[in-house]
Amino acid sequence: MEEALNPTELRELAAEILSENDREGRYTIPTKGLYPFQWNWDSCLTALGWTYLDEDRAWREIETLFEHQWSDGMVPHIVFHEPDDGYFPGPEVWSTGRSVPTSGITQPPVAGFVLRRLYQRCADPEEIEERIEDLVDAVDRWHAWFFENRDPQREGLVSIIHPWEAGRDNSIDWDEAFERVPTEGITDYVRRDTEHANPAHRPTKAQYDRYLWLVEHFCSFGWDNSKLHDASPFRVVDPGFNAILIRSCFDLAALAEELEMDDVAQRNYAWARRGLEALENLWSDPHRQYLCQDRTTGQLIESTSIGGLLAVFAPIRLTRAQAIAHRIEQISEECRFSIPSHDPADSRFDAKRYWRGPVWLIINYMINDGLEAADLEESSTKIVDDSLELISSSGFAEYYDPKTGEACGGGRFTWTAAMVLEFLQDQ
Ligand code: DGY
Repeated sequence: MEEALNPTELRELAAEILSENDREGRYTIPTKGLYPFQWNWDSCLTALGWTYLDEDRAWREIETLFEHQWSDGMVPHIVFHEPDDGYFPGPEVWSTGRSVPTSGITQPPVAGFVLRRLYQRCADPEEIEERIEDLVDAVDRWHAWFFENRDPQREGLVSIIHPWEAGRDNSIDWDEAFERVPTEGITDYVRRDTEHANPAHRPTKAQYDRYLWLVEHFCSFGWDNSKLHDASPFRVVDPGFNAILIRSCFDLAALAEELEMDDVAQRNYAWARRGLEALENLWSDPHRQYLCQDRTTGQLIESTSIGGLLAVFAPIRLTRAQAIAHRIEQISEECRFSIPSHDPADSRFDAKRYWRGPVWLIINYMINDGLEAADLEESSTKIVDDSLELISSSGFAEYYDPKTGEACGGGRFTWTAAMVLEFLQDQ
């Protein structure tokens, strides 16, 4: 049996992966082949890893992403910096008409949280003051875009209108609402993802047909964000996504306060507080966790996924955080490694298929952070231990089977490496 890697070796490997996926010192691709461009939340979480290697490079990662912010405030989920036909759907499908092509939907807004963390680690805050102020303004405009375009009834929480926006592409959470998305009339296409990763670890063809129908539908509105929310047959309020937005609003507000950007601080505190209050509507007593809400029907969705546990990333009340810690213990009893992305007791759980069961280190990181903030150290220690054990035994994979620890999806994965550097900081 191979010997487990020690923390120094793990750090070296993580740094090697970040460097090999670095492009021109400006952005980092998630992994070669499968994801050859810049992805929004991958990039932001990767910046945390860069702080251990090169602080300036960490800021640059976020700056590059925000150079491609749309004039309405949206920050796209993919920036297609260089042509690469190994990925589908590429720029010609999105057709967003930008000089450097981008996709037309967004992703979990983790940037506010990351900015604050970068600032806290910064060796000389004065030196980067102007840089950081520009970024604070840009993130503030993105937050405003969310509440303007994705919460038209001013309910305090925002919808995703495409599963790719949640980052949890094929979660069981979307199954029911996704049935409402037709597939007739979509242009013929050839998937490329299944050439780079095991098809059994990826979404199905039926799901891809619907992903594509939505893209073509939004494209027919000229990507006018003021119309897309109501025009989408798929509108879901995800507690995990909203927890990230709420946390980022709080963190951006606190950072803006330090920088004496008072308007930004006030606005973001107000969004965060309202969001936190509204999040309570997604709590389910019978399930002892938060659930997604189908915004078309107003109903909570019967699907106990990681999205409902990720709510702890926002400063929810202590009793809720304790309940989530308890749920994690419960579902982890059925798995060797925590935290599965879906409840293993659910018959729809699938240990290897992307977001229908596997463990993701970025999710472990954010949940761990929330549990630590709530002083629930006991639960958080197991999450960190399991995460590091997965890395030592199975390498820097995109995600892992929670029952066996088998590496799934893409390999030599950037944000997994970044999270390892984060988890090792106290070791
Ligand atoms: C993919 O292509 O699998 C992505 O998750 C979409 O962003």
